Amino acid sequence: MPTCFDVLVIGSGAAGLSLALRLADRVQVAVISKTALLESNTLYAQGGISAVLDAEDSIESHIQDTLDAGAGLCDPDTVRLVVSQGKACIDWLLDQGVPFTEVESGRGDHQLHLTREGGHTHRRVVHAADATGRAIETSLEQHARQHPNIHLFEYHNAIDLITGPKLGLLERGVLGAYVLDGTSHQVVTMRARFVVIASGGASKVYLYTSNPDIATGDGIAMAWRAGASVANLEFIQFHPTCLYHPHARSFLISEAIRGEGGRLLLPDGTSFMTRFDPRGELAPRDIVARAIDHEMKRLGADCVFLDISHRPAAFIKQHFPNIYARCLELGIDITRAPIPVVPAAHYTCGGIRTDLHACTDVPGLLAIGEAASTGLHGANRMASNSLLECLVFAKRAAEHILQTLDQRPIPPELPEWDETKVTDSDESVVVAHNWDEIRRFMWDYVGIVRTDKRLQRALRRAELLKQEIADYYGNFRVTNDLLELRNLVIVAELIIRCALLRKESRGLHFTLDHPQPDQTQPPRNSVLHPRVNER
Ligand code: FAD
Ligand code: SIN
Repeated sequence: MPTCFDVLVIGSGAAGLSLALRLADRVQVAVISKTALLESNTLYAQGGISAVLDAEDSIESHIQDTLDAGAGLCDPDTVRLVVSQGKACIDWLLDQGVPFTEVESGRGDHQLHLTREGGHTHRRVVHAADATGRAIETSLEQHARQHPNIHLFEYHNAIDLITGPKLGLLERGVLGAYVLDGTSHQVVTMRARFVVIASGGASKVYLYTSNPDIATGDGIAMAWRAGASVANLEFIQFHPTCLYHPHARSFLISEAIRGEGGRLLLPDGTSFMTRFDPRGELAPRDIVARAIDHEMKRLGADCVFLDISHRPAAFIKQHFPNIYARCLELGIDITRAPIPVVPAAHYTCGGIRTDLHACTDVPGLLAIGEAASTGLHGANRMASNSLLECLVFAKRAAEHILQTLDQRPIPPELPEWDETKVTDSDESVVVAHNWDEIRRFMWDYVGIVRTDKRLQRALRRAELLKQEIADYYGNFRVTNDLLELRNLVIVAELIIRCALLRKESRGLHFTLDHPQPDQTQPPRNSVLHPRVNER
Protein backbone atom coordinates (compact mmCIF):
# COMPACT_ATOMS: atom_id res chain seq x y z
CA MET A 1 0.00 0.00 0.00
CA PRO A 2 1.51 3.38 -0.98
CA THR A 3 1.83 6.06 1.69
CA CYS A 4 1.97 8.97 -0.76
CA PHE A 5 -1.31 10.14 -2.26
CA ASP A 6 -2.64 13.09 -4.19
CA VAL A 7 -5.15 13.79 -1.45
CA LEU A 8 -5.32 12.65 2.16
CA VAL A 9 -8.81 13.02 3.63
CA ILE A 10 -9.02 12.87 7.43
CA GLY A 11 -12.53 11.64 8.20
CA SER A 12 -15.13 9.38 6.62
CA GLY A 13 -18.44 11.10 7.36
CA ALA A 14 -20.66 12.77 4.77
CA ALA A 15 -18.00 15.40 4.07
CA GLY A 16 -15.01 13.07 3.72
CA LEU A 17 -16.70 10.30 1.73
CA SER A 18 -18.48 12.62 -0.68
CA LEU A 19 -15.22 14.47 -1.31
CA ALA A 20 -13.39 11.19 -2.00
CA LEU A 21 -16.10 10.10 -4.44
CA ARG A 22 -15.98 13.40 -6.27
CA LEU A 23 -12.19 13.18 -6.66
CA ALA A 24 -11.54 9.52 -7.26
CA ASP A 25 -12.01 9.33 -11.01
CA ARG A 26 -9.10 11.73 -11.43
CA VAL A 27 -6.69 11.26 -8.50
CA GLN A 28 -5.51 8.82 -5.82
CA VAL A 29 -7.29 9.49 -2.53
CA ALA A 30 -6.60 8.13 0.96
CA VAL A 31 -9.42 8.35 3.50
CA ILE A 32 -8.57 7.70 7.13
CA SER A 33 -11.08 7.09 9.87
CA LYS A 34 -10.16 6.79 13.49
CA THR A 35 -12.53 3.91 14.18
CA ALA A 36 -14.81 1.93 11.82
CA LEU A 37 -15.52 3.69 8.56
CA LEU A 38 -19.21 4.28 9.28
CA GLU A 39 -18.81 5.62 12.82
CA SER A 40 -19.34 9.36 12.56
CA ASN A 41 -21.84 12.06 13.46
CA THR A 42 -23.25 11.56 9.98
CA LEU A 43 -24.33 8.02 10.85
CA TYR A 44 -26.59 9.32 13.63
CA ALA A 45 -28.20 12.24 11.77
CA GLN A 46 -31.94 11.92 12.08
CA GLY A 47 -34.08 14.80 10.82
CA GLY A 48 -32.75 15.22 7.30
CA ILE A 49 -31.09 17.51 4.82
CA SER A 50 -32.52 20.84 3.75
CA ALA A 51 -33.21 21.71 0.11
CA VAL A 52 -35.73 23.88 -1.69
CA LEU A 53 -37.92 21.42 -3.58
CA ASP A 54 -41.49 22.54 -2.85
CA ALA A 55 -43.23 24.74 -5.42
CA GLU A 56 -44.34 27.09 -2.62
CA ASP A 57 -40.79 27.44 -1.30
CA SER A 58 -37.93 29.51 -2.72
CA ILE A 59 -34.16 29.86 -2.52
CA GLU A 60 -34.66 33.38 -1.16
CA SER A 61 -36.82 32.03 1.67
CA HIS A 62 -34.24 29.38 2.63
CA ILE A 63 -31.53 32.05 2.56
CA GLN A 64 -33.57 34.37 4.77
CA ASP A 65 -34.36 31.64 7.32
CA THR A 66 -30.65 30.70 7.50
CA LEU A 67 -29.65 34.34 7.98
CA ASP A 68 -32.33 34.84 10.67
CA ALA A 69 -31.20 31.77 12.61
CA GLY A 70 -27.55 32.91 12.28
CA ALA A 71 -28.38 36.16 14.15
CA GLY A 72 -26.44 38.53 11.89
CA LEU A 73 -23.21 36.55 11.68
CA CYS A 74 -23.72 34.42 8.57
CA ASP A 75 -21.61 35.19 5.54
CA PRO A 76 -24.22 36.04 2.86
CA ASP A 77 -22.10 34.72 -0.04
CA THR A 78 -21.63 31.37 1.68
CA VAL A 79 -25.33 31.13 2.51
CA ARG A 80 -26.34 31.81 -1.10
CA LEU A 81 -23.76 29.35 -2.43
CA VAL A 82 -24.87 26.53 -0.13
CA VAL A 83 -28.61 27.05 -0.36
CA SER A 84 -28.61 27.32 -4.14
CA GLN A 85 -26.91 23.88 -4.35
CA GLY A 86 -29.61 22.08 -2.35
CA LYS A 87 -31.47 20.42 -5.20
CA ALA A 88 -28.24 19.43 -7.00
CA CYS A 89 -26.98 17.75 -3.82
CA ILE A 90 -30.20 15.81 -3.32
CA ASP A 91 -30.04 14.67 -6.96
CA TRP A 92 -26.42 13.56 -6.44
CA LEU A 93 -27.41 11.60 -3.31
CA LEU A 94 -30.29 9.98 -5.20
CA ASP A 95 -27.76 8.97 -7.88
CA GLN A 96 -25.70 7.33 -5.10
CA GLY A 97 -28.82 5.33 -4.22
CA VAL A 98 -29.84 7.04 -0.96
CA PRO A 99 -33.37 5.78 -0.17
CA PHE A 100 -35.12 9.00 0.85
CA THR A 101 -38.72 8.78 2.08
CA GLU A 102 -41.32 9.36 -0.62
CA VAL A 103 -45.05 10.07 -0.65
CA GLU A 104 -47.67 9.84 -3.36
CA SER A 105 -47.69 13.07 -5.33
CA GLY A 106 -51.41 13.03 -6.14
CA ARG A 107 -50.50 12.69 -9.85
CA GLY A 108 -50.18 8.93 -9.61
CA ASP A 109 -46.40 8.98 -9.01
CA HIS A 110 -44.14 9.60 -6.01
CA GLN A 111 -42.22 12.60 -4.75
CA LEU A 112 -39.83 13.17 -1.87
CA HIS A 113 -41.53 13.76 1.46
CA LEU A 114 -40.52 17.06 3.04
CA THR A 115 -40.66 17.58 6.77
CA ARG A 116 -40.25 20.72 8.87
CA GLU A 117 -37.82 21.74 11.57
CA GLY A 118 -37.12 24.78 13.73
CA GLY A 119 -36.39 28.06 11.94
CA HIS A 120 -37.61 26.81 8.53
CA THR A 121 -40.67 28.71 7.32
CA HIS A 122 -41.42 25.97 4.76
CA ARG A 123 -41.35 22.23 4.54
CA ARG A 124 -37.92 21.65 3.03
CA VAL A 125 -36.24 18.82 4.92
CA VAL A 126 -35.61 15.70 2.80
CA HIS A 127 -35.21 12.61 4.95
CA ALA A 128 -35.03 8.83 5.15
CA ALA A 129 -37.62 8.28 7.90
CA ASP A 130 -35.77 9.28 11.11
CA ALA A 131 -32.40 7.79 10.15
CA THR A 132 -31.30 10.05 7.30
CA GLY A 133 -27.62 9.97 8.23
CA ARG A 134 -27.44 6.18 8.20
CA ALA A 135 -29.05 6.09 4.75
CA ILE A 136 -26.55 8.63 3.39
CA GLU A 137 -23.46 7.22 5.10
CA THR A 138 -24.08 3.59 4.12
CA SER A 139 -24.78 4.52 0.50
CA LEU A 140 -21.58 6.56 0.25
CA GLU A 141 -19.61 3.83 2.01
CA GLN A 142 -20.66 1.22 -0.55
CA HIS A 143 -19.43 3.38 -3.43
CA ALA A 144 -16.21 4.31 -1.67
CA ARG A 145 -15.37 0.66 -0.91
CA GLN A 146 -15.72 -0.24 -4.58
CA HIS A 147 -13.65 2.55 -6.09
CA PRO A 148 -10.12 1.46 -7.05
CA ASN A 149 -8.65 4.94 -6.47
CA ILE A 150 -10.05 5.33 -2.94
CA HIS A 151 -7.75 3.81 -0.31
CA LEU A 152 -9.57 3.36 2.98
CA PHE A 153 -7.68 3.21 6.28
CA GLU A 154 -10.01 2.34 9.15
CA TYR A 155 -8.81 2.56 12.76
CA HIS A 156 -6.18 5.09 11.71
CA ASN A 157 -6.00 8.07 14.03
CA ALA A 158 -4.36 11.24 12.66
CA ILE A 159 -1.98 12.67 15.25
CA ASP A 160 -0.56 15.78 13.63
CA LEU A 161 -0.23 17.48 10.29
CA ILE A 162 3.28 17.69 8.85
CA THR A 163 4.15 21.09 7.40
CA GLY A 164 7.20 22.44 5.59
CA PRO A 165 7.88 25.23 8.12
CA LYS A 166 7.65 22.81 11.07
CA LEU A 167 10.39 20.66 9.55
CA GLY A 168 12.46 23.67 8.48
CA LEU A 169 11.93 22.75 4.80
CA LEU A 170 11.43 25.13 1.91
CA GLU A 171 8.19 23.39 0.83
CA ARG A 172 5.14 25.50 1.57
CA GLY A 173 2.20 24.38 3.65
CA VAL A 174 1.06 20.89 4.46
CA LEU A 175 2.95 17.79 3.33
CA GLY A 176 1.11 14.97 5.08
CA ALA A 177 0.27 13.63 8.51
CA TYR A 178 1.50 11.30 11.23
CA VAL A 179 -1.14 8.65 11.82
CA LEU A 180 -1.48 6.01 14.56
CA ASP A 181 -2.39 2.65 13.02
CA GLY A 182 -4.73 1.06 15.55
CA THR A 183 -3.90 -2.49 14.41
CA SER A 184 -0.10 -2.43 14.39
CA HIS A 185 0.09 0.33 17.06
CA GLN A 186 2.79 1.94 14.91
CA VAL A 187 2.80 5.57 13.81
CA VAL A 188 2.88 5.79 10.01
CA THR A 189 3.89 8.79 7.91
CA MET A 190 1.40 9.62 5.16
CA ARG A 191 2.40 12.10 2.47
CA ALA A 192 -0.01 13.99 0.24
CA ARG A 193 -0.16 17.02 -2.03
CA PHE A 194 -3.37 18.12 -0.34
CA VAL A 195 -4.73 17.27 3.08
CA VAL A 196 -8.42 17.79 3.77
CA ILE A 197 -9.74 17.85 7.31
CA ALA A 198 -13.21 16.30 7.41
CA SER A 199 -13.00 15.12 10.99
CA GLY A 200 -16.26 16.55 12.34
CA GLY A 201 -17.10 18.56 15.43
CA ALA A 202 -16.08 18.71 19.06
CA SER A 203 -19.21 18.19 21.15
CA LYS A 204 -17.49 15.52 23.25
CA VAL A 205 -15.80 18.40 25.02
CA TYR A 206 -19.07 18.62 27.00
CA LEU A 207 -20.25 16.16 29.61
CA TYR A 208 -23.64 15.66 27.97
CA THR A 209 -23.80 15.40 24.20
CA SER A 210 -25.83 13.91 21.37
CA ASN A 211 -22.60 13.02 19.58
CA PRO A 212 -20.77 9.68 19.33
CA ASP A 213 -17.31 9.27 20.88
CA ILE A 214 -15.39 10.27 17.74
CA ALA A 215 -16.43 13.94 18.06
CA THR A 216 -13.35 15.20 19.91
CA GLY A 217 -12.40 18.09 17.63
CA ASP A 218 -9.14 16.46 16.51
CA GLY A 219 -9.03 18.17 13.14
CA ILE A 220 -9.66 21.61 14.64
CA ALA A 221 -6.81 21.14 17.12
CA MET A 222 -4.48 19.70 14.46
CA ALA A 223 -5.15 22.58 12.07
CA TRP A 224 -4.55 25.06 14.90
CA ARG A 225 -1.22 23.43 15.72
CA ALA A 226 -0.34 23.58 12.02
CA GLY A 227 -0.96 27.34 11.89
CA ALA A 228 -4.56 27.64 10.67
CA SER A 229 -6.84 30.23 12.22
CA VAL A 230 -10.17 29.31 13.77
CA ALA A 231 -13.39 31.27 14.18
CA ASN A 232 -16.64 31.48 16.12
CA LEU A 233 -16.02 28.48 18.33
CA GLU A 234 -18.11 29.98 21.13
CA PHE A 235 -21.19 29.02 19.13
CA ILE A 236 -21.77 25.51 20.40
CA GLN A 237 -25.27 24.38 19.60
CA PHE A 238 -27.16 22.59 22.36
CA HIS A 239 -29.90 20.42 20.87
CA PRO A 240 -33.04 20.99 22.93
CA THR A 241 -34.25 17.42 23.01
CA CYS A 242 -31.97 14.52 23.89
CA LEU A 243 -33.56 11.55 25.58
CA TYR A 244 -33.34 11.73 29.38
CA HIS A 245 -33.05 8.18 30.65
CA PRO A 246 -30.41 6.48 32.82
CA HIS A 247 -29.81 3.82 30.16
CA ALA A 248 -29.89 6.03 27.08
CA ARG A 249 -26.44 7.19 26.11
CA SER A 250 -26.49 10.15 23.69
CA PHE A 251 -29.82 9.43 22.03
CA LEU A 252 -31.39 12.30 20.10
CA ILE A 253 -35.11 12.93 19.77
CA SER A 254 -35.31 14.58 16.37
CA GLU A 255 -36.53 18.13 15.91
CA ALA A 256 -38.72 16.68 13.15
CA ILE A 257 -40.98 15.44 15.98
CA ARG A 258 -41.67 19.08 16.80
CA GLY A 259 -41.92 19.76 13.05
CA GLU A 260 -44.76 17.24 12.90
CA GLY A 261 -46.63 18.75 15.85
CA GLY A 262 -44.76 17.55 18.97
CA ARG A 263 -45.27 19.85 21.98
CA LEU A 264 -42.88 20.63 24.81
CA LEU A 265 -44.39 20.27 28.27
CA LEU A 266 -43.35 20.97 31.83
CA PRO A 267 -43.50 18.07 34.30
CA ASP A 268 -47.05 19.18 35.28
CA GLY A 269 -48.16 18.92 31.64
CA THR A 270 -48.36 22.65 30.83
CA SER A 271 -46.97 23.92 27.58
CA PHE A 272 -44.45 26.77 27.83
CA MET A 273 -42.67 27.55 24.58
CA THR A 274 -44.96 30.39 23.42
CA ARG A 275 -44.01 32.28 26.60
CA PHE A 276 -40.50 32.48 25.11
CA ASP A 277 -41.13 32.90 21.39
CA PRO A 278 -44.24 33.27 19.20
CA ARG A 279 -42.92 30.46 16.97
CA GLY A 280 -43.26 28.14 19.96
CA GLU A 281 -41.76 24.68 19.47
CA LEU A 282 -40.43 25.67 16.03
CA ALA A 283 -38.35 28.62 17.19
CA PRO A 284 -34.62 28.23 16.35
CA ARG A 285 -32.69 25.86 18.57
CA ASP A 286 -30.85 28.42 20.67
CA ILE A 287 -34.16 29.84 21.86
CA VAL A 288 -35.77 26.45 22.56
CA ALA A 289 -32.70 25.10 24.41
CA ARG A 290 -32.43 28.23 26.56
CA ALA A 291 -36.15 28.13 27.36
CA ILE A 292 -35.87 24.50 28.50
CA ASP A 293 -32.74 25.27 30.52
CA HIS A 294 -34.52 28.22 32.15
CA GLU A 295 -37.61 26.18 33.05
CA MET A 296 -35.58 23.24 34.38
CA LYS A 297 -33.55 25.57 36.60
CA ARG A 298 -36.65 27.53 37.71
CA LEU A 299 -38.52 24.36 38.72
CA GLY A 300 -35.53 22.30 39.81
CA ALA A 301 -36.74 19.71 37.27
CA ASP A 302 -34.51 16.94 35.88
CA CYS A 303 -36.08 17.19 32.43
CA VAL A 304 -39.05 18.45 30.42
CA PHE A 305 -41.28 16.36 28.14
CA LEU A 306 -41.89 16.17 24.40
CA ASP A 307 -45.32 14.88 23.47
CA ILE A 308 -46.34 13.63 20.01
CA SER A 309 -48.92 11.12 21.30
CA HIS A 310 -51.83 13.18 19.93
CA ARG A 311 -50.79 12.17 16.38
CA PRO A 312 -52.08 8.79 15.08
CA ALA A 313 -49.93 5.86 16.22
CA ALA A 314 -49.51 4.64 12.62
CA PHE A 315 -48.14 8.05 11.56
CA ILE A 316 -45.66 8.09 14.44
CA LYS A 317 -44.42 4.57 13.71
CA GLN A 318 -44.06 5.29 10.00
CA HIS A 319 -42.23 8.62 10.36
CA PHE A 320 -40.15 7.91 13.46
CA PRO A 321 -39.54 4.14 13.48
CA ASN A 322 -36.11 4.33 15.14
CA ILE A 323 -37.10 6.79 17.84
CA TYR A 324 -40.25 4.77 18.49
CA ALA A 325 -38.28 1.51 18.77
CA ARG A 326 -35.48 2.93 20.94
CA CYS A 327 -37.91 4.56 23.37
CA LEU A 328 -40.02 1.41 23.52
CA GLU A 329 -36.90 -0.60 24.45
CA LEU A 330 -36.55 1.75 27.41
CA GLY A 331 -40.20 1.38 28.38
CA ILE A 332 -41.57 4.58 26.80
CA ASP A 333 -44.34 4.13 24.23
CA ILE A 334 -44.23 7.47 22.41
CA THR A 335 -47.61 6.84 20.76
CA ARG A 336 -49.13 7.05 24.27
CA ALA A 337 -46.77 8.93 26.56
CA PRO A 338 -44.55 12.03 26.47
CA ILE A 339 -40.79 11.60 26.12
CA PRO A 340 -38.45 12.92 28.88
CA VAL A 341 -35.89 15.23 27.25
CA VAL A 342 -32.98 17.55 28.13
CA PRO A 343 -30.66 19.76 26.06
CA ALA A 344 -27.16 18.47 25.23
CA ALA A 345 -24.17 19.68 23.21
CA HIS A 346 -24.87 18.85 19.59
CA TYR A 347 -23.05 20.86 16.97
CA THR A 348 -19.87 22.94 16.60
CA CYS A 349 -20.91 25.98 14.51
CA GLY A 350 -17.42 27.49 14.39
CA GLY A 351 -14.19 25.75 13.48
CA ILE A 352 -11.28 26.05 11.06
CA ARG A 353 -11.69 29.23 9.02
CA THR A 354 -12.19 28.47 5.34
CA ASP A 355 -13.00 30.41 2.19
CA LEU A 356 -15.52 29.61 -0.53
CA HIS A 357 -13.17 26.91 -1.91
CA ALA A 358 -12.76 25.24 1.51
CA CYS A 359 -9.16 26.46 1.77
CA THR A 360 -7.66 27.28 5.16
CA ASP A 361 -4.83 29.73 5.54
CA VAL A 362 -2.21 26.93 5.42
CA PRO A 363 -1.29 26.15 1.77
CA GLY A 364 -2.56 22.74 0.65
CA LEU A 365 -4.75 22.32 3.74
CA LEU A 366 -8.52 22.37 3.26
CA ALA A 367 -11.33 21.79 5.76
CA ILE A 368 -14.92 20.73 5.12
CA GLY A 369 -17.96 19.65 7.10
CA GLU A 370 -18.51 20.28 10.78
CA ALA A 371 -14.78 20.93 11.40
CA ALA A 372 -14.89 24.03 9.19
CA SER A 373 -16.19 27.52 9.80
CA THR A 374 -17.48 28.50 6.37
CA GLY A 375 -19.75 31.34 7.45
CA LEU A 376 -22.94 29.38 6.71
CA HIS A 377 -24.19 29.06 10.27
CA GLY A 378 -23.21 32.37 11.84
CA ALA A 379 -24.21 32.44 15.50
CA ASN A 380 -26.63 29.51 15.24
CA ARG A 381 -27.03 26.69 12.71
CA MET A 382 -30.48 26.04 11.36
CA ALA A 383 -31.57 22.41 11.54
CA SER A 384 -30.59 20.18 8.60
CA ASN A 385 -28.26 22.75 7.05
CA SER A 386 -25.21 20.81 8.20
CA LEU A 387 -25.43 17.78 5.91
CA LEU A 388 -26.06 20.17 3.04
CA GLU A 389 -22.96 22.15 3.94
CA CYS A 390 -20.89 18.92 4.04
CA LEU A 391 -21.93 18.03 0.50
CA VAL A 392 -21.61 21.49 -1.01
CA PHE A 393 -18.15 22.14 0.39
CA ALA A 394 -16.96 18.63 -0.50
CA LYS A 395 -17.82 19.49 -4.10
CA ARG A 396 -16.15 22.90 -3.85
CA ALA A 397 -13.02 21.34 -2.34
CA ALA A 398 -12.89 18.69 -5.09
CA GLU A 399 -13.15 21.36 -7.79
CA HIS A 400 -10.42 23.43 -6.19
CA ILE A 401 -8.07 20.47 -5.77
CA LEU A 402 -8.51 19.29 -9.35
CA GLN A 403 -7.97 22.79 -10.71
CA THR A 404 -4.80 23.44 -8.70
CA LEU A 405 -3.26 19.97 -8.49
CA ASP A 406 -0.30 20.86 -10.69
CA GLN A 407 0.63 23.74 -8.41
CA ARG A 408 1.30 21.40 -5.47
CA PRO A 409 4.40 19.23 -5.97
CA ILE A 410 4.66 15.67 -4.67
CA PRO A 411 6.01 16.04 -1.12
CA PRO A 412 9.58 14.94 -0.38
CA GLU A 413 10.42 11.96 1.88
CA LEU A 414 9.52 12.97 5.43
CA PRO A 415 11.13 12.02 8.75
CA GLU A 416 9.62 9.05 10.52
CA TRP A 417 7.87 9.45 13.87
CA ASP A 418 10.43 9.53 16.66
CA GLU A 419 9.68 7.31 19.67
CA THR A 420 13.18 7.20 21.11
CA LYS A 421 12.40 9.53 24.02
CA VAL A 422 9.11 8.03 25.24
CA THR A 423 8.04 4.97 27.21
CA ASP A 424 4.71 3.25 27.88
CA SER A 425 2.55 5.14 30.34
CA ASP A 426 2.46 3.87 33.92
CA GLU A 427 -0.29 6.28 34.98
CA SER A 428 -3.24 6.09 32.59
CA VAL A 429 -5.44 7.37 35.42
CA VAL A 430 -4.14 10.86 34.59
CA VAL A 431 -5.67 10.62 31.12
CA ALA A 432 -9.02 9.35 32.37
CA HIS A 433 -9.17 11.97 35.12
CA ASN A 434 -8.36 14.86 32.80
CA TRP A 435 -10.94 13.71 30.26
CA ASP A 436 -13.65 13.88 32.95
CA GLU A 437 -12.43 17.15 34.36
CA ILE A 438 -12.49 18.97 31.00
CA ARG A 439 -15.95 17.75 30.07
CA ARG A 440 -17.38 18.65 33.45
CA PHE A 441 -15.99 22.18 33.73
CA MET A 442 -17.02 22.89 30.13
CA TRP A 443 -20.57 21.80 30.95
CA ASP A 444 -20.69 23.78 34.20
CA TYR A 445 -18.89 26.97 33.13
CA VAL A 446 -19.14 27.20 29.32
CA GLY A 447 -22.66 25.84 28.79
CA ILE A 448 -25.98 27.27 27.63
CA VAL A 449 -25.78 30.29 29.99
CA ARG A 450 -22.35 31.85 30.61
CA THR A 451 -20.78 34.66 32.65
CA ASP A 452 -17.37 36.34 32.44
CA LYS A 453 -16.43 34.86 35.80
CA ARG A 454 -17.35 31.32 34.79
CA LEU A 455 -15.42 31.67 31.54
CA GLN A 456 -12.31 32.96 33.34
CA ARG A 457 -12.55 30.10 35.78
CA ALA A 458 -12.79 27.63 32.89
CA LEU A 459 -9.83 29.25 31.10
CA ARG A 460 -7.58 28.89 34.14
CA ARG A 461 -8.42 25.19 34.34
CA ALA A 462 -7.93 24.64 30.62
CA GLU A 463 -4.51 26.30 30.68
CA LEU A 464 -3.37 24.23 33.62
CA LEU A 465 -4.58 20.98 32.10
CA LYS A 466 -3.07 21.83 28.73
CA GLN A 467 0.36 22.12 30.34
CA GLU A 468 -0.10 18.90 32.29
CA ILE A 469 -1.24 17.02 29.18
CA ALA A 470 1.65 18.43 27.09
CA ASP A 471 4.13 17.13 29.71
CA TYR A 472 2.46 13.72 29.67
CA TYR A 473 2.42 13.66 25.85
CA GLY A 474 6.14 14.45 25.78
CA ASN A 475 7.01 11.47 27.99
CA PHE A 476 4.74 8.61 27.00
CA ARG A 477 3.90 6.57 23.89
CA VAL A 478 0.70 7.81 22.22
CA THR A 479 -2.64 6.05 22.64
CA ASN A 480 -6.03 7.00 21.17
CA ASP A 481 -7.25 8.32 24.53
CA LEU A 482 -4.18 10.48 25.00
CA LEU A 483 -4.37 11.86 21.47
CA GLU A 484 -8.03 12.77 21.89
CA LEU A 485 -7.37 14.33 25.29
CA ARG A 486 -4.58 16.47 23.85
CA ASN A 487 -7.00 17.73 21.19
CA LEU A 488 -9.95 18.11 23.54
CA VAL A 489 -8.10 20.48 25.85
CA ILE A 490 -7.00 22.66 22.95
CA VAL A 491 -10.52 22.88 21.55
CA ALA A 492 -11.87 23.64 25.04
CA GLU A 493 -9.42 26.49 25.38
CA LEU A 494 -10.29 27.82 21.91
CA ILE A 495 -14.02 27.72 22.70
CA ILE A 496 -13.44 29.64 25.94
CA ARG A 497 -11.15 32.19 24.29
CA CYS A 498 -13.69 32.84 21.52
CA ALA A 499 -16.42 33.18 24.17
CA LEU A 500 -14.33 35.68 26.14
CA LEU A 501 -13.88 37.80 23.03
CA ARG A 502 -17.65 38.19 22.64
CA LYS A 503 -18.93 40.84 25.06
CA GLU A 504 -22.55 40.44 24.00
CA SER A 505 -25.25 37.78 23.73
CA ARG A 506 -25.90 36.60 20.20
CA GLY A 507 -27.35 33.36 18.86
CA LEU A 508 -25.97 30.43 20.82
CA HIS A 509 -23.67 32.55 22.99
CA PHE A 510 -25.66 33.86 25.94
CA THR A 511 -23.96 35.58 28.86
CA LEU A 512 -25.63 37.11 31.90
CA ASP A 513 -22.96 39.85 31.98
CA HIS A 514 -23.84 41.14 28.50
CA PRO A 515 -27.40 39.93 27.89
CA GLN A 516 -28.07 42.05 24.76
CA PRO A 517 -26.57 41.91 21.28
CA ASP A 518 -23.95 44.56 20.54
CA GLN A 519 -25.53 47.00 18.07
CA THR A 520 -22.26 47.75 16.24
CA GLN A 521 -22.65 46.93 12.56
CA PRO A 522 -21.55 44.67 11.03
CA PRO A 523 -21.28 42.24 13.97
CA ARG A 524 -17.83 40.73 14.21
CA ASN A 525 -16.62 37.16 14.05
CA SER A 526 -14.41 35.84 16.84
CA VAL A 527 -11.21 34.91 15.04
CA LEU A 528 -8.12 33.39 16.69
CA HIS A 529 -4.75 33.17 14.94
CA PRO A 530 -2.18 30.72 16.31
CA ARG A 531 1.04 32.28 17.53
CA VAL A 532 4.18 30.46 16.45
CA ASN A 533 4.89 29.08 19.92
CA GLU A 534 1.41 27.51 20.05
CA ARG A 535 1.81 25.43 16.89
P1 FAD B 1 -18.59 13.29 10.86
O1 FAD B 1 -19.76 12.68 10.18
O2 FAD B 1 -18.67 13.47 12.31
O3 FAD B 1 -17.31 12.41 10.50
C1 FAD B 1 -16.08 12.66 11.13
C2 FAD B 1 -15.09 11.60 10.69
O4 FAD B 1 -13.78 11.99 11.07
C3 FAD B 1 -15.31 10.23 11.29
O5 FAD B 1 -15.08 9.28 10.29
C4 FAD B 1 -14.19 10.12 12.34
O6 FAD B 1 -13.74 8.81 12.59
C5 FAD B 1 -13.11 10.90 11.64
N1 FAD B 1 -12.07 11.42 12.52
C6 FAD B 1 -12.19 12.30 13.55
N2 FAD B 1 -10.99 12.54 14.09
C7 FAD B 1 -10.09 11.80 13.41
C8 FAD B 1 -8.70 11.58 13.51
N3 FAD B 1 -7.94 12.18 14.45
N4 FAD B 1 -8.10 10.73 12.65
C9 FAD B 1 -8.83 10.07 11.71
N5 FAD B 1 -10.17 10.23 11.57
C10 FAD B 1 -10.77 11.09 12.41
N6 FAD B 1 -27.29 17.52 10.57
C11 FAD B 1 -28.21 17.70 9.60
O7 FAD B 1 -27.99 18.46 8.65
N7 FAD B 1 -29.40 17.01 9.66
C12 FAD B 1 -29.70 16.16 10.66
O8 FAD B 1 -30.76 15.55 10.67
C13 FAD B 1 -28.75 15.98 11.70
N8 FAD B 1 -29.03 15.17 12.75
C14 FAD B 1 -28.04 14.93 13.67
C15 FAD B 1 -28.28 14.01 14.69
C16 FAD B 1 -27.27 13.68 15.59
C17 FAD B 1 -27.53 12.69 16.68
C18 FAD B 1 -26.00 14.31 15.47
C19 FAD B 1 -24.90 13.96 16.42
C20 FAD B 1 -25.77 15.25 14.48
C21 FAD B 1 -26.78 15.57 13.58
N9 FAD B 1 -26.57 16.49 12.55
C22 FAD B 1 -27.53 16.68 11.59
C23 FAD B 1 -25.26 17.10 12.35
C24 FAD B 1 -24.53 16.33 11.24
O9 FAD B 1 -24.80 14.96 11.38
C25 FAD B 1 -23.04 16.54 11.31
O10 FAD B 1 -22.73 17.89 11.43
C26 FAD B 1 -22.40 16.01 10.03
O11 FAD B 1 -22.78 14.68 9.82
C27 FAD B 1 -20.88 16.14 10.13
O12 FAD B 1 -20.31 15.43 9.06
P2 FAD B 1 -18.75 15.42 8.88
O13 FAD B 1 -18.48 14.58 7.69
O14 FAD B 1 -18.23 16.80 8.94
O15 FAD B 1 -18.20 14.70 10.21
C1 SIN C 1 -32.62 16.53 14.45
O1 SIN C 1 -33.07 15.60 13.79
O2 SIN C 1 -33.23 17.11 15.34
C2 SIN C 1 -31.22 16.97 14.16
C3 SIN C 1 -31.24 17.86 12.99
C4 SIN C 1 -29.98 18.65 12.91
O3 SIN C 1 -29.16 18.66 13.82
O4 SIN C 1 -29.82 19.32 11.88
